[in-house]
Amino acid sequence: MPGPLRLLALALLVSGPLAAPAAEPIKLGEYASLTGKEATFGQSAHRGVVMAVEELNAAGGILGRRLELVAEDDQSKPGEAATIVKKLISRDKVIAVIGEVASSRSLEGAAVCQAARIPMISPASTAPEVTARGDYIFRACFIDPFQGTIMARFAQHTLHAKRVGIMSSITSAESVGLSRYFREQFARDGGTVALEQRYADGDKDFRAQLTAVRAAGVDALFIPGYYVEAALICKQARALGLQIPLFGIDGWESPELVRLGGAAVEGAYFATHFSPEDSAAAVVSFNTRFQKRWGVGSDTLAGLGYDSVMMLADALQRAGTTDAPKLRDALAATKDLVGVTGTITLDAQRNPTKSAVVLQVRGGKFHFIETITP
Ligand code: PHE
Repeated sequence: MPGPLRLLALALLVSGPLAAPAAEPIKLGEYASLTGKEATFGQSAHRGVVMAVEELNAAGGILGRRLELVAEDDQSKPGEAATIVKKLISRDKVIAVIGEVASSRSLEGAAVCQAARIPMISPASTAPEVTARGDYIFRACFIDPFQGTIMARFAQHTLHAKRVGIMSSITSAESVGLSRYFREQFARDGGTVALEQRYADGDKDFRAQLTAVRAAGVDALFIPGYYVEAALICKQARALGLQIPLFGIDGWESPELVRLGGAAVEGAYFATHFSPEDSAAAVVSFNTRFQKRWGVGSDTLAGLGYDSVMMLADALQRAGTTDAPKLRDALAATKDLVGVTGTITLDAQRNPTKSAVVLQVRGGKFHFIETITP
């Protein structure tokens, strides 16, 4: 045995019985819609989160400790998110929480985390109200005033729409906000929102609203909703003979949009955060690792889930401790962190400024159209 190795072996032997017990793992919580109506949101974000934790552990963990993920399913149900986050904090004693994707559920979890002074990082919730819940609440994505603005501009410049209709969900915090931000920008640029029709998540029949949209004679229809309802709305719109362009938001991004919407979603556009078609080296490498680990391609939520864990790891590293107030301060100071979905620098409201992409459904796949920088 060569000298240094023998010394090491000796040191291990000698220190054996006296050594401190192996460091406790750092417990990290995650709440996600792993089942239920928005299951693909939670599943995809979760794959990104797990992959980040595995890669960090393979590289030696954080602060000399292993990361241990405690993930819970809120079944896409209102009310369930708050219950689960309480359990993660009080029973599992996690030091931080990752979640949720949907803004309405993040609002529930954020209230719990803020009250307990446990940092929360939402990978993908874009409603401004989420981080406004308090100084322990962070996110890895852009916010809806930006998403609404870019889609209003997209409608004017790319779709050449002058009169648009909106179909928004009254039960989704994201949808309520986006219809407002869209409307404000579209009007500022001289366009007209001819009508807004509302629905609730879980609705299945949108024909009454779509009949009103048809009567209003609009050039395009903006649908700031999640994939299940969005797919049905597109289908029923086409069935009613509406041939105008249909366009939406990040909540459309799911393989289910195409499965449920079929031909009716062909040609439709939506804004989101990330495209796996991006040729940047970091994205290509992420996609390859992701495909290998999970046997499926990556998407926005995979990337944002991954980046949220990296935000936490970076803050833990800089804080040098899992102590909540210090970890909070380190998270708030996140700067120039290079993620797979872009570079993250948090502003005073704990939100990053990042670019968006517009994708189009073509041949049942989501194709990159353009990147929009703030
Ligand atoms: N932005 C959505 C919300 O706040 C969540 C989402 C992000 C869904 C990205 C899909 C992709 O509710």
